[in-house]
Amino acid sequence: MPSILLISGSPSASSRSAALLNQARARFAGAGLDTHLFTLRDFPAEDLILGRYDSPAFDSLKKHLEAASAVVVATPVYKAAYAGGLKALLDILPQTALRGKTILPLVTGGSPAHQLVIDYALKPVLAALGATDLHQGVYVVDKQVSVGPDGTPQFSDSELAFRVETAFSALAAAALSRQPAHA
Ligand SMILES: Cc1cc2nc3c(=O)[nH]c(=O)nc-3n(C[C@H](O)[C@H](O)[C@H](O)COP(=O)(O)O)c2cc1C
Repeated sequence: MPSILLISGSPSASSRSAALLNQARARFAGAGLDTHLFTLRDFPAEDLILGRYDSPAFDSLKKHLEAASAVVVATPVYKAAYAGGLKALLDILPQTALRGKTILPLVTGGSPAHQLVIDYALKPVLAALGATDLHQGVYVVDKQVSVGPDGTPQFSDSELAFRVETAFSALAAAALSRQPAHA
């Protein structure tokens, strides 16, 4: 069965960007896809900060990433870029870790002024990891979404909810059209 890996780059326990991933995960599972979700909190902070590339704490992430057909990367905007914790995690990965995978970026931010973070900050680093099939991605402003009691997003804007659902559908279709990375 094709699988999708979801990576949350927010350090927050109650996270809007992680809520988007929770919705995505339920959507993909409903489409018959295998999913694996990792957040920064799954890894020892010291291993991330000190760049311990060979720490066994990252073995499961690397294994599921290798097998995944598609990857969703979600992050808050921090200081007009993606979160530093996400960069620390991406730095741990092998240089071509995203080669051959379809990628969906999801970004939440306090201001609409930073929506180009997807294009000028996040996509270049994903491309540097070998990604060539990068979907457009979705940028969500804080006032458009809250985190529901079940950890999924509650949208105040139906057009945005539709765009998010469309992005998830497109990624699910892409993943289902591919063979698993390791059949
Ligand atoms: C340290 C820090 C820096 C931030 N910098 C920005 C910023 O430059 N631009 C912006 O639009 N929002 C900024 N924000 C707001 C967050 O991007 C926003 O609240 C986001 O939805 C948080 O996502 P999360 O709930 O998944 O952690 C910042 C928040 C923090 C804590």
